Amino acid sequence: MKRTLSIGATVAVLLALFAGLSLAADTMGGNARKGKYLYRKNCRSCHGVDASDLSPASKTQAEWKKLYEGMDKLPCRAKWPAEMTAEDAKDTFSYLYDYAKDSPSPAKCS
Ligand code: HEC
Repeated sequence: MKRTLSIGATVAVLLALFAGLSLAADTMGGNARKGKYLYRKNCRSCHGVDASDLSPASKTQAEWKKLYEGMDKLPCRAKWPAEMTAEDAKDTFSYLYDYAKDSPSPAKCS
């Protein structure tokens, strides 16, 4: 009896850990809804006009994550609006990441 209980408890702990891990993998931690607005406002002025037509579905989640981590090396970094905060950048990349081509709901920019 005791043994069944502890197996049950172990399974519950493992399930909880697994759920936590998959949640963490699903997002970059920013606000994707705000990011969508920010991307349109701060990035689409060039991307889709005279720079590459980048939309979330242009890249995979791993690629977006890498670009976010190396964001200061992007060729256009110095041209991002000066008022853009680190939080805004995180929200923007969360939007790109959440709708990446290998995400559950890939999105193109309209
Ligand atoms: C002033 C114009 C301009 C703005 C504003 C701009 N970009 Fe760019 N961006 C470029 C250009 C030009 C390139 C390099 C050539 C290309 O990809 O078209 C580039 C390249 C990139 C790349 C690399 C593309 C690749 O395929 O590896 C990413 C990612 C990127 N920009 C993201 C952003 C994000 C996110 C924003 C908004 C916060 C933004 N850009 C705002 C002009 C701009």
